[in-house]
Amino acid sequence: MTAVIDERQQQLIEKINSLRKKKNAIILAHYYQRGEIQDIADVVGDSLELARRAQETDADIIVFAGVKFMAETAKILNPDKKVLHPNPESGCPMADMATVEGVLNLKKQHPDAIVVSYINTNADVKTVSDVIVTSRNAVKVVKKLDAKKIIFVPDQFLGSYIAKQVPEKEFILWKGFCPPHFNLTPDQLLALKEKYPDAKIAVHPECNTETVKIADFVGSTSQIIEYATTCESKNVIIGTEVGLKHWLEKINPEKNYIFPVNADYCGTVHCCDMKKNTLDKIADVLENETNEIVLPEDIIEKARKPLDLMLSIV
Ligand code: 13P
Ligand code: SF4
Repeated sequence: MTAVIDERQQQLIEKINSLRKKKNAIILAHYYQRGEIQDIADVVGDSLELARRAQETDADIIVFAGVKFMAETAKILNPDKKVLHPNPESGCPMADMATVEGVLNLKKQHPDAIVVSYINTNADVKTVSDVIVTSRNAVKVVKKLDAKKIIFVPDQFLGSYIAKQVPEKEFILWKGFCPPHFNLTPDQLLALKEKYPDAKIAVHPECNTETVKIADFVGSTSQIIEYATTCESKNVIIGTEVGLKHWLEKINPEKNYIFPVNADYCGTVHCCDMKKNTLDKIADVLENETNEIVLPEDIIEKARKPLDLMLSIV
């Protein structure tokens, strides 16, 4: 199912299509973007897939419909390209919880540890990280690291989820969290389960530990898509950002995807930052080439190392 669009949006889509062709631009969009943006994107993906596609593209311009750290990652991985972010106010509150100073302090306290940062970090924090992970590859990457002690930044819930899967290592967790996922309580999911007793529950590892405990499946956005569209149950209760509903219904409309809130509500689990990008803003940056991601060369160079290490492992 494609998003319902009005006449004005149709005109914007035509403008975007003609500009992207003329300027050899590519539009990358995260699964949490508005439905109408997913429908016009060249690639819709999770943070790992989008990073890879940004690195590989031969387009001259990358329009990144996601939050700031994602657009920055595209620039770091493909610095010769012009990367445009439709709305510079679309940041990630969890990424903003981590600081370079804090990470360096932890490193001083634990000189034998290595710093594993979630891709949801700003570029400066990536420069003081040893390796980057996404929620899709975190367990795999951490298992392969030649270190017993891990400083994990910034998501304490993803960090403790990984720690349970990799008990042979010691974890020092930064106390960050994703506000929309954190606010999802087990009660909200269990109330839905009462209504749909046969339903399976799939959640993102950014959810708090109590919520993760009651889930049948825990995984990144792309892993949830794989599970929800292929598991035996028709009803699937999904504990992640509501933008994913659009994609799920598009690729397998036979199933019933139940989210704890409706899409208009800004709270649980609705990432207001992801929704700050609009068709208007995409048309605008494509036309005027504004909101370019500009990073100092030394930041690009240093932040690239831990990203390259991740991409070489998975
Ligand atoms: P994914 O890596 O699953 O795309 O998640 C990114 C994110 O921001 C989740 O809140
Ligand atoms: Fe950040 Fe959470 Fe929004 Fe993802 S959903 S971008 S982690 S605030």
